[in-house]
Parts: sequence; C-alpha cells; structure tokens
Amino acid sequence: GLQWGDEGKGKIVDVLTPQYDIIARFQGGPNAGHTLEFEGIKHVLHTIPSGIFREGVLNLIGNGVVLDPITFRMECERLKESGVDVKKNLSISRKAHLILPTHRVLDAASEASKGAGKIGSTLKGIGPTYMDKTGRNGLRIGDVLLPEFMSRYEALKQKHIHLVKQYDFEFDITAQEQEWMDAVEYLRGFTMVDGEYWMNEQILAGKKILAEGAQGSLLDVDFGTYPFVTSSNTTAAGACTGLGVAPKNIGEVFGIFKAYATRVGSGPFPTELEDEVGERMRQEGREFGSTTGRPRRCGWIDLPALKYAMMINGVTQLIMMKADVLNIFEEILVCTGYEMPDGSLTDQIPFEITDIKVKPVYASLKGWHCSLEGMRNFDQLPAELTAYIAFLESHLNLPINFISTGPDREACVLRGSLA
Ligand code: GDP
Ligand code: IMO
Ligand code: MG
Repeated sequence: GLQWGDEGKGKIVDVLTPQYDIIARFQGGPNAGHTLEFEGIKHVLHTIPSGIFREGVLNLIGNGVVLDPITFRMECERLKESGVDVKKNLSISRKAHLILPTHRVLDAASEASKGAGKIGSTLKGIGPTYMDKTGRNGLRIGDVLLPEFMSRYEALKQKHIHLVKQYDFEFDITAQEQEWMDAVEYLRGFTMVDGEYWMNEQILAGKKILAEGAQGSLLDVDFGTYPFVTSSNTTAAGACTGLGVAPKNIGEVFGIFKAYATRVGSGPFPTELEDEVGERMRQEGREFGSTTGRPRRCGWIDLPALKYAMMINGVTQLIMMKADVLNIFEEILVCTGYEMPDGSLTDQIPFEITDIKVKPVYASLKGWHCSLEGMRNFDQLPAELTAYIAFLESHLNLPINFISTGPDREACVLRGSLA
C-alpha cells in the first residue's frame, strides 16, 4: 500500500494469486480489512491472506503478524460457510504474536486518554501487542501448545491490568476472556510452522511467493506520519522481517495506490477535501472502513507522498486502483508539491508534517466523465484518463501497468504483464 491503507491490496492479491504458489501475509493484524469481490459476493479478510479463495494455493500468516484468536476464528468460520477449506490451505508461523483481550483494553484506554490527540486506532489491540513484542513480554502462537501457556497468559494479563490502572478506565473482560480461550483451543487445530524455515524451503524449491502487506506506507511506524501511524513496518522491508526472507530474495515490488487518496483515523492529510467534492468522492468510492465502518477522509492524489512511498519501498510495478470513482468529476486535481508555512515550495514530506499545515500545489486535469465499465484494454480507455495516467507517470518515473476500474476481480485493465 503506497498511501494510508485501503488502496485495494486485497483485490490485487486475489487477482495475482493464480500466478503464485504461496501467499504470505507479513505484518499487521485485524486492523486490516482486505476486500475481495467476485461472483457478486464481497468478502472481507482481516488476518487471513487474500489468496485463500484460490484452489491449490498455500497461505501463510507470517511471524510479523499479530493475531487475535477471536477474530481469526470468526474469519475462518465465515470462510467455511463460503465453502473454503481454510485448515487445508493455511499455515501460521509459530513466531507470530497473540493479541490478548487485555491488549484491546490497553488500546482503548490509551486512546481514551489522548482526547483530541487520539490516533483513531481501530482498537484491535495492535499497538499494545507490538509493544509487548518489542518489549519482550509477548506471547506467541507456538506458546499455545506449551504446558505453561496458562500461567504465562495469567502473568501477562496481570501486567496489563496493572498498566490499565494508570488510566481512568473501566473494563470487564470476563465474557471476552472465555471466548478468547475457546478460540485459542480452535487455533490449536491449525498447522503451525517455523515460518522462516518453511519460507526458505519453498524458495529453494523454486516456488513463487507473493508477500501481502497490510496498511499503507504512510502508516509505517518509521516512515509514516508519526505518531499517527500503526505499529509495524508496512513497507516492502517488512516482508523480510515479517517472513524471515533475505532482501536478496525480493523480486518485484508491487505498489498499489488509489487514483485519489483516502485516510481513516487522525493525522495529516494535505490534500483532504472537507467539502462537497470530498463527500461525492466518499459516496462514489464507497469510502467507509472495511474493518470499522468509519467514513474515510477523501482527497486528491498526492504525488510528493506517493513518490516518497515509492522510494521507501523500491516499487518496480505501479498499480492504480479505483479509477472509476473519478468518472463523476469534470476536473481532477493532482498535488505536485507543497507550499510550506513560510511560502517556500517542496516536493518532499517535511519532518514537521504532523505539526504544520502545508498547502498543496495543484495541477488541474480534465476529467473523462464517462463509465469505464467493461473496458479491459488500455486502448479502450478515454483519452482524458490516459492523459491522467501519463501525467502521473511523468512525475513518478514508472509506468502504471495495471488500472483497476471496479471492485470485482474482473474489472481490470492490464497493460503488458505484471508477475
Ligand atoms: P485494502 O485494505 O487495501 O485491501 O482495501 P479495502 O478493501 O479496505 O478497500 C478498498 C475498497 O475499494 C473495497 O471496498 C474494494 O472492494 C473496493 N475496490 C477495489 N478496487 C476498486 C476499483 O477499482 N473501483 C472501485 N470502485 N472499488 C474498488
Ligand atoms: P488495510 O490493511 C486503513 C489506521 C487506523 C489508525 C492508525 C492506527 O485495510 O489497508 P491501529 O489499529 O493500527 O492502531 O490504527 O492506522 N489503520 C488503517 N487505515 N487501512 C488499514 O489497513 C489500517 N490499519 C490501521 O485507522 O488511523
Ligand atoms: Mg482495508
């Protein structure tokens, strides 16, 4: 994801999966909501890799992921109803970390204490779980099979209860805790692997692997708009640490972006449209969170932010999503730089981005104002859309080889080949 998440990663992973043997999710947790649409049905995945619907493809939840047994179980049960044999095609790294009910409590307590400065977390317990991971307190998937699991769980829970006391926050996890224990029992029935050995064996065996990231580059804990970020490395480098794969094994890096921009939760968003134009974008793009249902903030495409994300990720293939959402506009704006508070211009994201207000500098392009439905070839696209694409390419210095024109897996315009 090259923006603030929800670019359409789920759809693209699903579309690319037939060309791969393995789909491996490398970071994040149930804060993610990856949508796939086919045969008129919409599926939203949170923890399970987006390759799960394709026959004969193996899926791995990598060590970089944080897993909540409750959401995981609900997801598996929903997939089972759709006729997917999750147990057969999914393995989980023993080193992935567990989200405890008290991690969610800590997330909620921390957010409540921040008042207006809140991050707008999905409240899935992501931050506190990664804090326990880096703080060397966490519980991992492999631990659920140890005889001392319950005592370790109790010790960590007590630590959390002690921590919550510093906030003025009431909670009761009795019901959730039982549900969590039942879900852990359910989890024990899944294939657990030493993910890093498993991945490297597959690489040696010549298997083709697609690593699936969650969130977006501007939510990366190091490179995002800190502190309004998530708690993991959402960028390509995260695939190495989140799966146990060496950098030399990384091949193509697919960078996915929307033809405009959205953000859900708080934090800087220079091109945000807080007017009727933004509202039309939100309605046309159905921009409501896949995980929380919150309305997403909408705005024009931001090239400085996109170029930054491409640089950090080393993108080799650009994929533009939701071009159809711009069908309704007569004029389309593209942010090519920022005006700083002192009047100077820049095309880089300033360090102070969360503390100052930068003013976007826009180029104006003509809209295509027609439906893209049924278009499958690049030369069928309206001239104004190909001009829009050419304009972006001239700034991004990389061709956009894939244009998505609708939520369905069939709604794609491919120029050349991707994988
Ligand atoms: P992800 O988190 O990156 O997988 O993205 P989400 O699933 O959270 O959000 C993307 C939304 O856009 C989903 O509702 C998709 O079904 C939808 N979508 C994906 N591609 C397109 C597209 O080309 N056009 C339109 N209109 N919707 C799309
Ligand atoms: P996918 O994978 C969009 C945002 C939250 C919040 C911030 C921190 O679907 O693209 P967290 O729950 O991690 O503590 O939230 O990050 N956020 C996302 N926004 N898409 C996501 O995932 C997101 N995951 C987290 O809204 O602002
Ligand atoms: Mg999403």
